[in-house]
Amino acid sequence: MSVDLLLGLQWGDEGKGKIVDVLTADYDIIARFQGGPNAGHTLEFDGIKHVLHTIPSGIFHPKAINVVGNGVVIDPVIFRGELEKLKDFPVDPKKSLLISRKAHLILPTHRLLDAASEAAKGKAKIGSTLKGIGPAYMDKTGRNGLRVGDLEMSDWRDKYRALADKHEAMIHFYDVDIHYNLQELEADFFTAVERLKELTFIDSEEYLFRAMDAGKRILAEGAQGSLLDIDFGTYPYVTSSNTTAAGACTGLGIAPGTIGDVYGIFKAYTTRVGSGPFPTELFDQDGETMGRVGNEFGATTGRPRRCGWLDLVALKYAVRINGVTQLMMMKADVLSGFETIRVCTAYQYKGEQIDHLPYTLEAEHLTPVYTEMPGWKEDLTGMTKASELPETLNAYIAFLEEALQTPIRIVSVGPDRLQTIRR
Ligand code: GDP
Ligand code: IMO
Ligand code: MG
Repeated sequence: MSVDLLLGLQWGDEGKGKIVDVLTADYDIIARFQGGPNAGHTLEFDGIKHVLHTIPSGIFHPKAINVVGNGVVIDPVIFRGELEKLKDFPVDPKKSLLISRKAHLILPTHRLLDAASEAAKGKAKIGSTLKGIGPAYMDKTGRNGLRVGDLEMSDWRDKYRALADKHEAMIHFYDVDIHYNLQELEADFFTAVERLKELTFIDSEEYLFRAMDAGKRILAEGAQGSLLDIDFGTYPYVTSSNTTAAGACTGLGIAPGTIGDVYGIFKAYTTRVGSGPFPTELFDQDGETMGRVGNEFGATTGRPRRCGWLDLVALKYAVRINGVTQLMMMKADVLSGFETIRVCTAYQYKGEQIDHLPYTLEAEHLTPVYTEMPGWKEDLTGMTKASELPETLNAYIAFLEEALQTPIRIVSVGPDRLQTIRR
């Protein structure tokens, strides 16, 4: 049996959590393959909103098994908080949540290093979520990291101490004002580790091989978005993992040939949180409207998200890099009421018009070229069938499908599970 992938095609927050929750009804296993608590995946059903950071978005389905893959970085303190929030719901993490032994741990000092690095960068800061993601992945690739499987070894505290001591020296190297009480942070960390150890640790690649052989249906859940990919995103304003399809292979141990469908999610417009270039960003009333109607505030940090028109050049790039087979367009309801919808179809770049993503997207070199289309006035939020969608929205969808040469199979018209239209 093949593995389907679901990933964000923009700068994150496309609505991955909502769609994974919707699709879980069709799958046996949901497996997160990269990122960590920098992610904030929102799900809404029965009038309740849930935000998950590390736990896969299939957790509320009684029959689904949720796997945290080797490519994920786990902060036991944040993880404990997530488990705590599940307590009031019919979820049994001891049965339905499995953790890869090869996943790396985020130490309290990783968070401090993240803060020190950002403070030292000043105006050039990445706008990190300050969850320790960059430093934890640096230790992974530097071959210094502490992994979940180490917690089963008797000497893990020695390894922890050596790494944390090294981090402390590095924090001083940054020479910035960071106030912290490491003893307190560590006491909390050690308690949280004990909670993590109550869950089941697995050799997740082996688990998934066997599941595939047994014909189980597996959906790999991505975090962040393609434009935040460490290789293909707007470097250095990116996260520290491969958020694209290739990341699912390394983050779960699945072979390229076993990948089935690749679901690519995008908003009907664009948002970005944190620093970095954003060619179609709006600084006017339209951008303000998108942010207000779309309630565009980060699910992890609460920061307002920057808003702008859909960037088809960037979207095409993401579709190609991921090999997207089906698209899902989110938040079409937020654009209701705009007289005219604009879509960026090319860039004016250093004196010529181009339709691909150049090396740098900085505003000084690049101006977006827009195509305009009539908007729609109808409130979409109560619609349940494709036949109800307004003509002008159908024209927008057809335009995007033609440009991207990929079908849009889901149109989302609100945050709730039920506000999902299949085409
Ligand atoms: P993720 O990180 O990709 O899972 O996305 P987030 O949860 O960070 O951000 C998406 C936000 O949009 C959340 O607040 C969702 O509840 C909300 N959302 C998802 N789909 C829709 C939609 O179709 N319409 C509206 N209005 N909100 C949506
Ligand atoms: P989900 O999974 C949106 C952004 C941060 C910052 C940059 C680096 O919810 O879509 P990091 O903490 O990784 O060092 O931050 O990446 N970022 C996200 N933006 N959604 C996310 O995740 C993000 N995770 C990280 O804002 O610009
Ligand atoms: Mg999010």
